Amino acid sequence: MKQTIAFPDGREVLNLGQGTYRMGEEFKKKQQEIEALRTGIENGLTLIDTAEMYSEGRSEEIVGEAIQPYKRDDLFIVSKVLPMNAGEQHIHQSIDGTLKRLGVDELDLYLLHWRGHIPLQETVDVMEELKWKGKIKGWGVSNFDLEDIQELLSLRNGLNCQTNQLLYHLASRGIEFVLTDYLKESRIPIMAYCPIIGQEPDKKEMVHQSPTINRMAQKYNLSVVKLLLAFVTQQENMIAIPKAASRDHVLQNADVLQVELDDEDIRILNEAFPVPDKRMPLKTK
Ligand SMILES: NC(=O)c1ccc[n+]([C@@H]2O[C@H](COP(=O)([O-])OP(=O)(O)OC[C@H]3O[C@@H](n4cnc5c(N)ncnc54)[C@H](OP(=O)(O)O)[C@@H]3O)[C@@H](O)[C@H]2O)c1
Repeated sequence: MKQTIAFPDGREVLNLGQGTYRMGEEFKKKQQEIEALRTGIENGLTLIDTAEMYSEGRSEEIVGEAIQPYKRDDLFIVSKVLPMNAGEQHIHQSIDGTLKRLGVDELDLYLLHWRGHIPLQETVDVMEELKWKGKIKGWGVSNFDLEDIQELLSLRNGLNCQTNQLLYHLASRGIEFVLTDYLKESRIPIMAYCPIIGQEPDKKEMVHQSPTINRMAQKYNLSVVKLLLAFVTQQENMIAIPKAASRDHVLQNADVLQVELDDEDIRILNEAFPVPDKRMPLKTK
């Protein structure tokens, strides 16, 4: 379902973007990956998520090539810094490498990939410095559980955090126990990664074999993957970033913005794939 999501600083994006994990890993797939990203951009999926870690920078290079024909202002580019680089000593080298590989002067968002050993206040301070230098428009975090985000928001300039990127899909709903509400109240949107269960083969198989899911997919005339994505795009305060490395997959994913699951079907999904009834450790990939 098509929705507009606002970040705390007032910028708005569509609730569906594009992931890039493993892009750039195999040279022979390069043109297809570039074509997939361009197809996405041309179909409105202008938010692209990448990271310095992905394929050791080659994902950022693929994104850099893919975005060349487009106006910079029409895109929303997100990248992530490794925890060990998110302090005074290494951040400048990291951001300069990322900007160079992407071929842009400034990122729309720069995220701490996960929490490491560098004090959070130091990371916030260097992120603010990068903003001041015009290298990033804003910053956020990824894989932060409730206590981490609470601590972050209590720091000097911590409230400038724009997003928390988290694993979320129909069969992994642990964050709904407490974290999604806390982020909603704090007006911090979630970027949902692995929204179509890209990295948990067992869970993926379980969902793909579920009679409930297959019946519902048939009812809406969708593939199971599209149904999974429709479920995520129907959540409040959430931007889904599925990765698709083919034109066909991207077009299917963009098409999900036209899908709205009715209340009764959401109830059925909630019953078949419930939110856990106790707090679970944050799932990460
Ligand atoms: N912050 C973090 O720690 C973190 C961790 C993991 C991921 N992420 C981000 O989130 C993004 C998404 O997560 P993910 O890539 O792990 O998993 P995902 O998006 O849930 O799944 C990707 C898989 O789904 C396939 N696919 C895509 N569209 C499809 C369609 N319409 N029909 C059938 N299959 C389809 C892709 O195949 P093809 O590639 O062949 O199209 C790929 O194998 C990543 O790319 C990355 O940007 C962030």
